[in-house]
Amino acid sequence: MKKLRQHLGWKLFLSYLTVILTGVFSLAVAAEWHAPNALSRHMSNMQTMMGDVDSGMMQDLLEDFGKAINEVLLVAAGLATITAIIVSTFVTRRIIQPIQEMTAVSQRIAGGHYDERVEVSGEDELAELGISFNRMAHQLEQTEERRRQLIGDVAHELRTPLSSIKSVMEGLQDGILLADPATFASVEREINRLQRLVRDLEELSRAEAGELSLEMAPVNPAAFVQTAVDRLYLQYEDKNVQLNVAIPPDLPLVEADTARMTQVMLNLLGNALQYTPSGEKVTVQAQADDKQVNIIVQDTGIGLTAEQQRHIFERFYRVDKSRARTGGGSGIGLTISKHIVEAHHGRLTVASPGPYQGSTFTVILPVIHD
Ligand SMILES: Nc1ncnc2c1ncn2[C@@H]1O[C@H](COP(=O)(O)OP(=O)(O)OP(=O)(O)O)[C@@H](O)[C@H]1O
Ligand SMILES: [Mg+2]
Repeated sequence: MKKLRQHLGWKLFLSYLTVILTGVFSLAVAAEWHAPNALSRHMSNMQTMMGDVDSGMMQDLLEDFGKAINEVLLVAAGLATITAIIVSTFVTRRIIQPIQEMTAVSQRIAGGHYDERVEVSGEDELAELGISFNRMAHQLEQTEERRRQLIGDVAHELRTPLSSIKSVMEGLQDGILLADPATFASVEREINRLQRLVRDLEELSRAEAGELSLEMAPVNPAAFVQTAVDRLYLQYEDKNVQLNVAIPPDLPLVEADTARMTQVMLNLLGNALQYTPSGEKVTVQAQADDKQVNIIVQDTGIGLTAEQQRHIFERFYRVDKSRARTGGGSGIGLTISKHIVEAHHGRLTVASPGPYQGSTFTVILPVIHD
């Protein structure tokens, strides 16, 4: 019984056998019921044609006929069973082989070999299963790759500020550095960087677990856009990037957490500033219809390829790693922003005609209906 439960091959063979037995049984029943009548009818026809036939002979004929039918049925059942064994062995091999391969590959993947894939042939459901299995393996491989990268990135981000704090401390101890405000300020800068990284990481893990706490209230989107613009205005002036704001005052209300949406706008406007060279410009505008409000942040900066646009919302994805590191970015901002916007039942999208042709980020939020 255990063997039966554990092996698909046995189950298939038994199902065939059941069909055969049912067929043989139905034939036997039908023969038992119907054959004597049919034969007698036939014989009485013959009797009228050929004259009297001995009734004893008739009885013998009936019995022989019954035996012959049973023999035929027995031989047919035997042949059918042999055929069932052959066919089920073939079918089983065809079905079980890919399944066994998938089991073996999944075990190897679980053991850390993320590049393993199954071979897919044909177009049936098994092939479909193979394709989606491979897709899953590919996703796992990418996730694993990102996890590895994440550890490397976090270690790197931690190492730089820590070693610069350490060298300042050593300088102070050796008397090479003076204990003056400039020295303290440099240490504070590094500590701020560390704090920001830790805060971003915490927030990222909360966002990915779907545990962002939102204090929703009806707000005019112009409010959080303006707050972010006001906060970054000086930085735009410092870098000589022109910031154009075109937000109509009569936007429809949206249900939002103002602090969180400000954070999204700060990230988008901060990115636009960071990735747009001096002398160029960034525009933030809003459009609305009766369903949604679109807040569009458009820059004339370094732009993005189609491939980069596909990955840009992934955590720790940075187009230019070395530049982002010196610029302080860790590639988490857009991931968190997307989670925040989606927690508002909205969408965050990116578009760019290509490298050095600028980028456009659009926040889409649903309008409140009463
Ligand atoms: N407006 C933009 N133009 C061109 N590239 C951009 C733009 N905004 C983002 N990027 C690219 O996307 C990457 C991810 O952006 P994201 O905001 O997630 O991270 P970051 O700005 O590097 O770091 P932080 O976590 O501090 O925000 C950036 O490193 C940059 O390569
Ligand atoms: Mg950013």
